[in-house]
Amino acid sequence: MATDKPRSGSDHDSAGENIDASAFAAMRRENADPDEKVRPLPWFFTMFLGAIGMWGAFYIASTPSGEASAYGDQRTVSTLRPAVVSAGAAAVDGKQIYGAKCVACHQASGMGVAGVFPPLAGAEWVLGDEKVLASILLHGVEGALVVKGTTYNGAMPAFGSLPDEEIAAVLTYIRSEWGNKAAPITAATIAAQREATKAQSGPYAGGAALTALAP
Ligand code: HEC
Repeated sequence: MATDKPRSGSDHDSAGENIDASAFAAMRRENADPDEKVRPLPWFFTMFLGAIGMWGAFYIASTPSGEASAYGDQRTVSTLRPAVVSAGAAAVDGKQIYGAKCVACHQASGMGVAGVFPPLAGAEWVLGDEKVLASILLHGVEGALVVKGTTYNGAMPAFGSLPDEEIAAVLTYIRSEWGNKAAPITAATIAAQREATKAQSGPYAGGAALTALAP
């Protein structure tokens, strides 16, 4: 086992040579003095770095920013503020009423909730007789009601407290949304039906009572 300690019994002084054994061992142990070497980066590596830098600059310069909303939300507070609804029949927004009064049950998709809230999309009651539809909204329904082949037994609240224009607007909306195509309903129709059914107190007792309304 070699150690750094001077070896008095090493093989070099075994033959009686008059040499300082410890100095000789120390000399053998030394490395050459270090000196600084010139080793530049390989040229291809330098070019590679340059190419990356140029590509980065090109990418930043060529990427559009601030124009399309895909590169960030460009909306401002005024965009998000709901449109001011002025008093006046024409300004009533059926979609807005739907979002406020109906969406919780019948859903934004108009598909309702399976088995609980019937769909409005493609529903015969929505596309059918406008007087019956108006009556559903004016007085509500509670009882067995078949919609698109499924029987529902829930409670549709009455919206008779809404003004005629708003009922007309929301019905016109549900008759033209989700692929539905039925004629719009006017406030005058709602007013007439409100008058014609004023004897009705409480909700209709299901589909049979509604069908009886149709001429
Ligand atoms: C609390 C939940 C609820 C809300 C809110 C509600 N509905 Fe309904 N709606 C029902 C239920 C439940 C039925 C089925 C009633 C039954 O089974 O007798 C129904 C039935 C209907 C029907 C007849 C069946 C059909 O699917 O075509 C129409 C039309 C309708 N709702 C329109 C509306 C509109 C328009 C609004 C908003 C102004 C609205 N509903 C708000 C629960 C709701």
